[in-house]
Amino acid sequence: MGYVKLSELLARSPVDVPRLITERVRALGVGGVLKALGERLKGLDEVALDVLSALMVGRHVVLVGPVGVGKTTLAEAVAEILSLGDPPYVEVACHSHMTAVDLTGDIDIAVVLQAGLDHPLAYIPGPLVEAHGRILVLDEINRLNPYSQAALLQALQEHYVVVRGYRIRSDFAMIGTANPSEYEGVYELSEALADRVKFVEMDYPSADVLRAVLKWRVEEALRHIGVEVPDYVIELAAKFAENLREAGAPASIRALTYSIAGAIAKSWAKGGDISLSELKRQIRANFSRQLRRDDADEIIDRALLKAANG
Ligand SMILES: Nc1ncnc2c1ncn2[C@@H]1O[C@H](COP(=O)(O)OP(=O)(O)OP(=O)(O)O)[C@@H](O)[C@H]1O
Ligand SMILES: [Mg+2]
Repeated sequence: MGYVKLSELLARSPVDVPRLITERVRALGVGGVLKALGERLKGLDEVALDVLSALMVGRHVVLVGPVGVGKTTLAEAVAEILSLGDPPYVEVACHSHMTAVDLTGDIDIAVVLQAGLDHPLAYIPGPLVEAHGRILVLDEINRLNPYSQAALLQALQEHYVVVRGYRIRSDFAMIGTANPSEYEGVYELSEALADRVKFVEMDYPSADVLRAVLKWRVEEALRHIGVEVPDYVIELAAKFAENLREAGAPASIRALTYSIAGAIAKSWAKGGDISLSELKRQIRANFSRQLRRDDADEIIDRALLKAANG
C-alpha cells in the first residue's frame, strides 16, 4: 500500500458504514453471505446474523466465548465476505502493551514543520485511521489496556482519531473478539466502551456440529498425507470434549483437531493404523498445559476413560 498524504486524511469525508454494509448484504443476499461463511465455519449462522444485524444498524460487536470456538475466524470471515475496501478489512491482534499511538498512528511534528504535511514520514498510519470506511477486526480486544481503550473509545464516539492535535475523520464498523476465561494480560472493557458494543455470545457447538467440524478440520490437516480418518476416532474425541466440558474445563476445537491429526500422522509415520493409546497420548499432550490447573492431568484422564467406556 502506498502512503496516504496527511493533507488528504485531514480532508476526508464521513462514510456511512452501516449503509455500505447493508448494501453489501443486499447485493450478496443473506443466503449468499451465510453460504460463503459455511465454507469456513459450521453451525454459526445464528451468531453471524446477530453480527450482521448489529453492524447494519451501526452497532459495533464483540464476540465473546471460550477458547477455540471460532471467534477470530468468524470475525475475519464476516469482514472478508463484506469486503468493504481494498484490503477488505483491517485487523489488529490486541495486546496489553499496545499504546494509543499503536492504534492511532503517529505524526512527526518536526517532519511536518520542515517538509510539510505530505512528506512520506509526516504520518505513520495506525489501524484506527486505516479502517475508515471498512471493518476493523480487533482480535482479543480485552487485552487492550485502559490507555489504548481510550483512543478506541474516542474514535468510536467522535468518529475522529486525534493524533498530536490533528483530527482525522474515521468511520468504521468494529468486530472485536474476547475470551473471558483468560485472565492473564486481560483488562475489563471500560463501561463507556462496553456501552458502545453489542456482546454476542459464542459457545461450544452441539455434539453433532462438533463431530462434523472435527472431521472436516482433521481431514483438512491430513489432506496432503492422504490417510483416512476413522469415525470412531472422531467419536471418541467428541465424547472426550463433552466430558471435559462437563468437568468445567474448556475443550478447544483447535486442540482436539490437532490431537486427532497428530495421532493419525504419527501412526502413519510408524507405518500402522491409528492406535487408541497414541490418540490418548496426543490428547494429554495438547490439553494438559492448556487447562492451566493443577488437576489438569486427572481431569483429562477421567474424561478420556469415560469417553472410551461410554
Ligand atoms: N463452528 C466451526 N466450524 C468450523 N471450524 C471451526 C468452528 N469453530 C472453530 N473452528 C476451528 O477451530 C479453530 C479455532 O478457531 P478460532 O481461532 O477462530 O477460535 P477462537 O474462538 O478465536 O479461539 P481463541 O479463543 O483461541 O482465540 C479454527 O481452525 C477454526 O476453523
Ligand atoms: Mg481467537
